[in-house]
Amino acid sequence: MVKSWSPESWRHLPVRQVPDYPDPAALAVVEGKLRSYPPLVFAGEARNLKKALAEVAAGKAFLLQGGDCAESFAEFHPNNIRDTFRAILQMAVVLTFAASCPVVKVGRMAGQFAKPRSAPTEELGGVTLPSYRGDIVNGMDFTAESRQPDPARLLQAYGQAAATLNLLRAFAQGGYADLHEVHRWNMGFVTSPQTERYRDLAARIEESLNFMAACGITSETTPSLRQTDFYTSHEALLLGYEQAMTREDSTQGGWYDTSAHMLWMGERTRDLDGAHIEFLRGIRNPIGCKVGPGANPADLIRLIDVLNPDNEAGRLTLISRMGHDQVEAKLPALVRAVTREGRKVVWSCDPMHGNTIKSGTGFKTRPFDRILAEVRGFFAVHQAEGSYAGGIHIEMTGQNVTECIGGAMDVSDAQLADRYHTHCDPRLNASQALELAFLVAEGLKAERLGQPLAAAS
Ligand code: TRP
Ligand code: MN
Repeated sequence: MVKSWSPESWRHLPVRQVPDYPDPAALAVVEGKLRSYPPLVFAGEARNLKKALAEVAAGKAFLLQGGDCAESFAEFHPNNIRDTFRAILQMAVVLTFAASCPVVKVGRMAGQFAKPRSAPTEELGGVTLPSYRGDIVNGMDFTAESRQPDPARLLQAYGQAAATLNLLRAFAQGGYADLHEVHRWNMGFVTSPQTERYRDLAARIEESLNFMAACGITSETTPSLRQTDFYTSHEALLLGYEQAMTREDSTQGGWYDTSAHMLWMGERTRDLDGAHIEFLRGIRNPIGCKVGPGANPADLIRLIDVLNPDNEAGRLTLISRMGHDQVEAKLPALVRAVTREGRKVVWSCDPMHGNTIKSGTGFKTRPFDRILAEVRGFFAVHQAEGSYAGGIHIEMTGQNVTECIGGAMDVSDAQLADRYHTHCDPRLNASQALELAFLVAEGLKAERLGQPLAAAS
């Protein structure tokens, strides 16, 4: 029996993580405005991403999804957008070249504003205020005024997402992402073993490009050398905003959430009979679902039944976030169930959210070696199960921040205070992101050549 769906059908179900707006009428006015604004993405683009992800599900491409934990109004600056984009390009080119594998590039960008919280309120020095839920909802400052949810923030988030997406499209299509620029994507601020390694790889790419140019293949003859497809994504958490951005496709029919190409559902909001799954099941975008160590195989299959009833490849990406010490114990049973049931999914690894700790100096951090360990474990499980490790999902920035400890530059506990800028969770900096890309490239290469993991590293 297929239950009917509409963009607002989620409103009849229990919904988690909703802000408490003091003036619901003002919120309704803003949502009405958003409904009349232009879509940020076109349904055809979401379909193209779905096709690209179907290639990933079939083991013929790899998904790279990354960006801020939370975008913020304060850090809205072209240089930040450029630097994150550039770091993703570097990672993508490492993966494409080292593993001879097409890479589907998806930013956690241009809309990643809303944050799930473990508690609705926060207490500090005897004062209790609403928790910070991301800039699309309220402000981070610990004052009653700032923590009050404000509908005007939805409009500001829309505007920022539109401008960010506009710049990303320009970079992706307008020459910045031309493979002939591969040397220039190197970050200026540090010389690390990664930058050296990257320089070598860039030199080899340049040599290949020169050879091809001599054969008559250039950026002029072959547009795919000078441009790339770059997609956007965020967690579909604030359903009022997502609903307002959801439109019926005028060309082919069907509902699309036009706030981003891809939307995902978090570990905290994926209850089978909750509002978030209801909303996501009805939109035709490619969607993701986080899967933590508490998931059991039977529930996961039920979730897939609801989210991807037609078993359409590219529709659903399962993003496992187990933690370095649990991935090898918890992931195999889930992978086995999905394989046994013949479900076409992309398996992606989020090595960030299961590896968050409090450092000795009191910062929320993530040890880089645990992040690497979870990625290794993810590849090992898929290899053992005969399934395809198809992607990674990371929180990162192009800036030289000190938020995750370790890595080749060896950020120490004491250094966390130097440049700890995140509005939410600790992110990989540009150098750590590149280091991770080299590790993933080795895993991917082994996977594609059918070699044992160790042989490639
Ligand atoms: N168009 C191809 C792709 O997106 C090649 C390419 C162009 C590319 N610019 C890139 C690959 C930047 C990685 C990074 O894969
Ligand atoms: Mn996060």
